[in-house]
Amino acid sequence: MNSQIAPAPYIIHGSLPDRYPRGWFCIGAGYEFSTEPKMLNYFGTSLVAYRGEDTGKLHVLDAFCPHMGANLADGCVKGESVICPFHEWSWGADGVCNDIPYAKKIPVKARITSWYTHEANQLVYLWNDPDGNPPIKEQAIPDEAIVAEEGWTPWVIRRVHVENNCRELIDNMADKAHFSPVHGLPEITHFSNVSEGHKYTQFMNGHSENGLMKSEATYHGPGYMIHKSTTVAEGEPDRRFMSLVMNVPTSMESFEFLAGFKERVPEGMEGDIDAQTAYVNELIDDGVESSVFADLAIWKNKCTIDNPILCDGDGPVTKLRQWYAQFLVPVDQVPESLQEKRIYDKTS
Ligand code: FES
Ligand SMILES: [Fe+2]
Repeated sequence: MNSQIAPAPYIIHGSLPDRYPRGWFCIGAGYEFSTEPKMLNYFGTSLVAYRGEDTGKLHVLDAFCPHMGANLADGCVKGESVICPFHEWSWGADGVCNDIPYAKKIPVKARITSWYTHEANQLVYLWNDPDGNPPIKEQAIPDEAIVAEEGWTPWVIRRVHVENNCRELIDNMADKAHFSPVHGLPEITHFSNVSEGHKYTQFMNGHSENGLMKSEATYHGPGYMIHKSTTVAEGEPDRRFMSLVMNVPTSMESFEFLAGFKERVPEGMEGDIDAQTAYVNELIDDGVESSVFADLAIWKNKCTIDNPILCDGDGPVTKLRQWYAQFLVPVDQVPESLQEKRIYDKTS
């Protein structure tokens, strides 16, 4: 080793964000939530999600009962309220205690946080803002016309716990150079990213072993990405599919990775939801080594790197990170310049 000309070993800097991102987080498919309370361990705490018996509307509340700390997800639903399993205090969808079976007076302090929810695209979303503000229209989740088209299977959602900050997953959008080694894509013929406000889209075309693939993936805020893809192979019908790549922070150093899949219903399976779900699950299992799950092995052991050494063949990683940073500051600190549409073409 020639120490006279070699530079000093590079020092990696890594830091965690000081707060959870602001935005809508997709927490699953609509059919996964019912009047049975479901425990969600997100944002460093425990939440309870349930549908009201009268309205069918999804409600999400902080799960720890401020009476004596039981978890409301262990309780049951009555009307639009959730009943604590410990002493049966009843909590309304607005988070206000509306009944204590053995008390003459409900303590005025008896209120827990009720989270904003939204349903669209057969999915459910949860709003998180560390400043406690309601959802903003700039970050609204659009209805996807393609999801409402006839002939698609239901969403099939898989969840994996990942021990790393959720920001690691976002880098994928700009990380052109990882698609060949990690996902086995032999040749990329087009790669560009477009950033505009809270949206960030990756356009990618490439030759895969199944034919020419055209893909478009858009993050709407920090916690929901929808991906539409068509693969064209000579002599075969085009293969269209949709997927979701999502994250919900569980702590600053871990997140729940949610991947969703929707396929065209094969002939003969029309109306048979169980068969369709089994079919999608089989395709997910077959593709697990090259699909989005292939990133898991990397995320598991990688470090956070704030100062990556990037080369000319890399995608616009720095630009993507600047876009994502808007979700880690209060709304009034988001740079105005992020509203402009910016196109980064990294095809060559
Ligand atoms: S702990 Fe919930 S009612 Fe007592
Ligand atoms: Fe990836």
